[in-house]
Amino acid sequence: MKILTIYYSYDGNSALIAELLKMSANADTFRLEVENEKRHKGFLKYLFGGLQAVGRKKPALKPFTVNLDEYELIIIGGPVWAGSPAPALASFLTKYPLKSRKTALFFCCASGDAGKALEQMRALLRGNMVTGEKVFQNPLNSGKNATAEKVGAWVKELLK
Ligand SMILES: Cc1cc2nc3c(=O)[nH]c(=O)nc-3n(C[C@H](O)[C@H](O)[C@H](O)COP(=O)(O)O)c2cc1C
Repeated sequence: MKILTIYYSYDGNSALIAELLKMSANADTFRLEVENEKRHKGFLKYLFGGLQAVGRKKPALKPFTVNLDEYELIIIGGPVWAGSPAPALASFLTKYPLKSRKTALFFCCASGDAGKALEQMRALLRGNMVTGEKVFQNPLNSGKNATAEKVGAWVKELLK
């Protein structure tokens, strides 16, 4: 099955999941990048990112080309920001609405509970089949090997 992972990552956790999906499912990866993204640290990172997410902003993405028709399964993932999907994910799905696709979702978050972010992504993906959902708690903290096991187990479920 030809698989594409579309992801956004600010601090590298979701990028690690995308890398591991590439390793265990041979998935192609496509990283969403925000145009003129400000790189904040500490409190300002949470403040600006949180405001964007709560305000349901859809920041412009850097131009890209990707042929979604090549893929049988599209995995979409990224971080939870203020209980919502990071805004770049909504930017993508608004500009490139998926229809009648087989999809799967993952989120990375600090708490391990993606909460309403999952509901919001399901709403953005209405009209598609969501075949799996997975939440990873700051996977960079768990290390690559432990995370690879979790990703591998998820891939098995997805490909059943
Ligand atoms: C602006 C901002 C808001 C966040 N809000 C939440 C949150 O509501 N719940 C949570 O569990 N983690 C939250 N986090 C933590 C990230 O979701 C978590 O660290 C995630 O693994 C980061 O993924 P990334 O490294 O791919 O960017 C937030 C992080 C940022 C930068």
